[in-house]
Amino acid sequence: MIDVLLGLQWGDEGKGKIVDYLAQKYDIIARFQGGPNAGHTLYVDGNKVVLHTIPSGVFQEHCLNLIGNGVVIDPVTLQNEIQKILPLCPSLLSRLFVSHRAHIITPTHRALDAASELAKGADKIGSTLKGIGPAYMDKTGRNGLRVGDIMSPNFNEKYEKLKNKHLQMLRQYDQVVDWQAWEEPFLTAVEQMRHLQIVNAEYWLDNHLNAGKKVLAEGAQGSMLDIDFGTYPFVTSSNTIAAGVCSGLGVAPSRIGEVYGITKAYCTRVGGGPFPTELHDETGAELRAAGNEFGATTGRPRRCGWIDLVALRYSVMLSGVTQLIITKADVMDQFNPVKAAVAYLVNGVETKEFPYDVCDMEITPVYQSFAGWDKPVAECTSYDELPQVFKNYCHFVEQYLQTKIAYVSNGTGRDQLLAIS
Ligand code: GDP
Ligand code: IMO
Ligand code: MG
Repeated sequence: MIDVLLGLQWGDEGKGKIVDYLAQKYDIIARFQGGPNAGHTLYVDGNKVVLHTIPSGVFQEHCLNLIGNGVVIDPVTLQNEIQKILPLCPSLLSRLFVSHRAHIITPTHRALDAASELAKGADKIGSTLKGIGPAYMDKTGRNGLRVGDIMSPNFNEKYEKLKNKHLQMLRQYDQVVDWQAWEEPFLTAVEQMRHLQIVNAEYWLDNHLNAGKKVLAEGAQGSMLDIDFGTYPFVTSSNTIAAGVCSGLGVAPSRIGEVYGITKAYCTRVGGGPFPTELHDETGAELRAAGNEFGATTGRPRRCGWIDLVALRYSVMLSGVTQLIITKADVMDQFNPVKAAVAYLVNGVETKEFPYDVCDMEITPVYQSFAGWDKPVAECTSYDELPQVFKNYCHFVEQYLQTKIAYVSNGTGRDQLLAIS
């Protein structure tokens, strides 16, 4: 069976930390979508590590790690990441596998991302500018370069052809992006990628699954950034929900087992787009400070607000989440009351459905208030030690989402995770 772990909000829910922990119980961790727009933070022996392309199972010595076909890879980011973590993880290269079918992000994809964002002006998506949108556009437009192509003798020809297409496109924009400086490092990194273990990943996974190996699919971004179901057009360019696992790894739906859905005890978003429970006041600023909410990939301050159960219920439904994981519960220690949106008021009408046209409407969240925890969750080392008010809050969330909470995370460390019985 293959289990899945994915974010239920707008990303940065703490997926990296949880995958690193859960990887103890799995043989293989596989990324199925996204690319270097992801920033997954782990603490390994006190060292902070941010992973963008490499799956978060690398620090568990027994774990194999697969970058699946649904991922878009920037060879430069991947090589930088490998170099950075090799000293902490000497066996990395023997445990890292890449699908032939994953697509490559080129320097001109990045240039197109930047030019397109600049041209959008005030309507910009707030892209991470890593070339994600243009790379997926070339994939679905059937022009893309795949990892398998770098092994082919006519790689340079293919690359030049794609580059020339991009240069034509770039001429339509007023902005000039200095992509030339990125080309040499790109070609060097492509050369280095030839030494990685590039595999027919769908067969590779099938063989491992048939041999009884346990696989965890690691999501990037979050359900509300999904290309189909997120707050379009303020989304990323891949399917971040559980459905993306099948197309992003080449596994059948019948093989999916548990689906872990992660949410913070509050909510954040980075970049543009609707965020119904966003707090523009002092409380929002306090959440940012208490949660250290600055982007792991771009360093941008994250927008903060209360947990949104309407959006969460939608995400849980879309992915068939079987177990919830609540992260950053310790951040709420200093807040009293703690609030949760339980419905939206739209044109005077209350709804619990996430609206289609969320970008064009005024939404007033309806909140339920909870008394703040009477003892810091940060100090608890077991479920039994958790304050009763916090347990009541968890129970409310479980009832609302009709899904059990499996773990509560109460700190950045690998072991700051309480199993909920
Ligand atoms: P990801 O993209 O979902 O992997 O999440 P990020 O790494 O971008 O952002 C999550 C941030 O929260 C990181 O800085 C983590 O170290 C941190 N974090 C994760 N879990 C907890 C937690 O339970 N408490 C606190 N205080 N920080 C956490
Ligand atoms: P992890 O995996 C938070 C956001 C960007 C932007 C939008 C589109 O760390 O949770 P893109 O570069 O994909 O074209 O940007 O999506 N975004 C993320 N926000 N966490 C992420 O990844 C994100 N990846 C993309 O900020 O609003
Ligand atoms: Mg992140």
